[in-house]
Amino acid sequence: MGAQLRLLPPSLPFRFFAAAAVYHVVLWALLALGADEVPGFVGGPGLPLAALHALTLGVLAMTAIGATLQILTVATGQALRALWPCHLVSWLYIPGVGVLLVGLAINDHLVSAAGLLPVLAALGLFGAITADLLRRAKGLRVPILYIWTALAALAGLALLGFLLVADLGHGILAGWGVDRSAIGLAHMILAVYGFMGMLALGYSQILVPMFALAQAPAFPRNLHIHVALAAALILAVVWALVPLEGLSTGGLIVAAGIGLVGAAAHVAQMVTALRTGMRKRLGLSFVLVRVSWGALVASLVAGPLALMGLLGGQGVTLWGAIALLGWLLTFLLGVLQRIIPFLVAMNASKVGGVPPRLSELAPDMPLLYHAACHAAAVVLVLVGLVADQGWPVRIGASIGVCGGLAYLWFAIAVYRRMHGPRPERGAPPPATGGPGVEAGGETSNGKR
Ligand code: HEM
Repeated sequence: MGAQLRLLPPSLPFRFFAAAAVYHVVLWALLALGADEVPGFVGGPGLPLAALHALTLGVLAMTAIGATLQILTVATGQALRALWPCHLVSWLYIPGVGVLLVGLAINDHLVSAAGLLPVLAALGLFGAITADLLRRAKGLRVPILYIWTALAALAGLALLGFLLVADLGHGILAGWGVDRSAIGLAHMILAVYGFMGMLALGYSQILVPMFALAQAPAFPRNLHIHVALAAALILAVVWALVPLEGLSTGGLIVAAGIGLVGAAAHVAQMVTALRTGMRKRLGLSFVLVRVSWGALVASLVAGPLALMGLLGGQGVTLWGAIALLGWLLTFLLGVLQRIIPFLVAMNASKVGGVPPRLSELAPDMPLLYHAACHAAAVVLVLVGLVADQGWPVRIGASIGVCGGLAYLWFAIAVYRRMHGPRPERGAPPPATGGPGVEAGGETSNGKR
């Protein structure tokens, strides 16, 4: 019941999830349009950069905002002080990202700036709302540490992102004697492993045990893992920003090594939760989640290999694709297809009547289409990068667009079932073993 009291008006988290589902289609469409420029992309304006930020700002950060506003209020038991700041974040961020993408795609600095300012204002406000919730939260010590780390990384990546956009328009960095690629690398590490990475690992501490009906990850082992990952992140950002010939590459490889140990230990804790959980059949969503864990570890092996030049000219782009498409996007799409029906069920039962089963809410056909398209799209993009060819990227991205449309179909169908007609209770459950019954939460330091 406490959880239901903390439910936000459904349109608030869902507008972010809906926008993420739309930008997911935009990501693949931009990648298909700019396919010939993708192999060899190491920054600079154009369609690949716009596609990259349709993914990072339009899908990853967008979902993170919607999920954080809802999950943190339920998990911490703390209410938001007011709803209007959350509405304001959505009015600034959702269209702001669109304008920024256009500016990056056509390399128009004024348009980029017109999009960037509302995006930065929204991210700042989101940071303030989240910090206020974290400050008042009780319990959940380790997940909260992850989210504080993610907020600190968000501040850093936004500042570096601002400098990178300003440099696109005014070439300021060279004038300051600052190496643009060093800023780009630090921005990428802070954004991928800092902001999005820490949020994904932090929320996994809550969501994976919740969906698997398992014990929360063991304390203080999960705290030690967080300390190792945070240390690796700080080391990597410092070495990226201080390009000392030979030394910084060595420093980055050491940081990646520490990160690899931390990430492997995190994945081991998650696998233990799945193995010991009371719910064994977790369906398609956790196939995506498990694949993403493999990609997380692979990205921390590919990174150092790319830095040592052992992955060829495409090394850095390949590393970015494994981390962003293989790990973060796959993880997010796996978890989101559980969160959306879960939230709809919570809201539907709030309006009285028999709470719907999650399996009644989530049509499985679009998810099957999506999973097949997503796998083909990611593999073909990676093949295009390894082969240094644009056409596999174009085919892959076009299949990605189909997968994105299937995911949008799923999201709309579930949302409509919140108020609309649902399949008859007792109708045969879907073939893929949908999400199943509701779950209870546990705190991450082992206390119920
Ligand atoms: C405040 C929002 C952001 C702005 C203004 C921004 C801006 C930029 C710009 C201008 C570049 C091009 C750098 C270059 O030409 O070398 C870039 C690169 C990149 N950004 Fe962002 N970004 C933002 C947020 C993010 C987020 C949230 C992520 C990931 C989660 C991300 C991931 C990346 C990656 C991976 C690169 C490629 C690195 C490179 O080019 O060296 N960005 N960003």
